[in-house]
Amino acid sequence: MLKIAFVCLGNICRSPMAEAVFKHLLDERGLSDRVTVDSFGVSDEEEGNGIYPLALKTLESHGITAKHTAKKITATDVAEFDYVMVMELRHRGTILCMTRGEYADRVKPLCKDRDIVDPWYTRDFEKSYADIKACCMSLLDELIAQGKI
Ligand code: 4NP
Repeated sequence: MLKIAFVCLGNICRSPMAEAVFKHLLDERGLSDRVTVDSFGVSDEEEGNGIYPLALKTLESHGITAKHTAKKITATDVAEFDYVMVMELRHRGTILCMTRGEYADRVKPLCKDRDIVDPWYTRDFEKSYADIKACCMSLLDELIAQGKI
């Protein structure tokens, strides 16, 4: 079973949206039983909190739902997941510091050429959702093409 983690700062906006979108895409293709999907923050500031209401509302407006409790990623989590997809390159830096450079190959930006902007600050949840969805679709296509799923 392939294991994919999505990571942002607080684990209440972008990474839970990415988790829900990726699960939805897997479901649509009948591949849900082939992949474990989870999400984490690099900060513990929001630990225990649910998905941010506007993030959930945006998902729901696209027919996607999410049940979520925020948690901070640990070195053990990084060791367990095959792919750790970060929303911003600086999250990769934080994770590599935490793991002392181990598992660097599996920690990758979800979007190859830019960060997924933080809707907590922009308030544009629809834009972040669209970005996340496009990148999740590319990731899924890539993993299927590579025979990983
Ligand atoms: P996320 O968004 O990293 O996409 O979950 C944020 C959530 C909370 C905060 C910052 C970003 N905050 O500063 O509390």
